[in-house]
Amino acid sequence: MIKNNILIFPGDEVGPEITTETIKIIDFLNESKITNISYEFAHVGGAALDNYNVPIRQEDLDKAKNSDAVLLASVGTPKYDNNKREQKPEFGLLALRKHLDLYINVRPIFVFNSLTSHSSLKSEIISDLDIVIIRELIGDVYFGEPRGFKDINGDRVGYNTMLYSESEVKRITKFAIDVALSRKKQITSIDKANVLECSQLWRQTVDRMMNNEEIELQHMYVDNAAMQIIKNPKQFDVILTPNLFGDIISDAASMLTGSIGLLPSASLSNSTGMFEPIHGSAPDIAGEGIVNPVAMILSLAMMFEYTLNRPELSNLIKNSVNLVLDDGYVTKDLSPKEFIKTSDMGNKILEKIKINVK
Ligand code: IPM
Ligand code: MG
Repeated sequence: MIKNNILIFPGDEVGPEITTETIKIIDFLNESKITNISYEFAHVGGAALDNYNVPIRQEDLDKAKNSDAVLLASVGTPKYDNNKREQKPEFGLLALRKHLDLYINVRPIFVFNSLTSHSSLKSEIISDLDIVIIRELIGDVYFGEPRGFKDINGDRVGYNTMLYSESEVKRITKFAIDVALSRKKQITSIDKANVLECSQLWRQTVDRMMNNEEIELQHMYVDNAAMQIIKNPKQFDVILTPNLFGDIISDAASMLTGSIGLLPSASLSNSTGMFEPIHGSAPDIAGEGIVNPVAMILSLAMMFEYTLNRPELSNLIKNSVNLVLDDGYVTKDLSPKEFIKTSDMGNKILEKIKINVK
């Protein structure tokens, strides 16, 4: 059997708790000789600042790059809120994305049948929802130069550069086209072309790339998209978006599903992938054993699908999660009164996996 080396970043706050539940599954698959995964741990974010005084070490960036895939839990802690940018936990995450050239971010937004009543929206708006957000991940105002602080006529300003090159837009659009061709052949591209040059270039480039494709393409301004995704989410299938708008739209979209604690993501380069929940590190509930481990467990499923080439294991994990939710078990994010703890959720999913592989 092919041996896979993966690097795991438990990260900050609730990160280690959801990592524990995810590793239970990897250990079981290894013990059952279904996989041969060797994993190592490394620190990122606040955990790296605590240990090494940097949000990520160069050697861990390199280790991540040399792994077959990276699994990451969550990054961020209020302890370092007042640090300057290069010393903030989030900088470690952004450095990983950049160093590994993870320009593609895939965020599937789907609703588990048994959870339709948990969304703050009416069930008919969200039942059977299945959309995928393709977010460009290493360009835009997140990385554009120049950036910084300076004085203009005695007034202090902070500034950033929103910037996309044609080649950056082309490569993410190409990925979105491939995804759309395997689905409903429909793409909504998000921008703010009524105001921003950066968005005008985005729109022109997307148009040119789609010219010869049999895909229904729609452009939508980001403010309208924020409204439409709440009003009628099922009009979307593949959403193609620049980095910043994608960050915002994906948090909004996550609420359609009942809880952001359910949603995984894949960040991909042309050769590797990093897999992490969409949600953050949730300092308010860290250490209480109540965080939902599903998003990270489903991130492992995405790792099997996208990078380790084991789609059957991806389906196994997804189906097992579904079965547990069908049985009515949920964590506190979904039901503040009647819920099971993080470790019980992990164990229940593992039990279903065990039953299903036999
Ligand atoms: C996300 C997060 C990150 C982002 C933060 C933690 C830097 O919000 O993955 O959506 O803004 O991309
Ligand atoms: Mg975000």
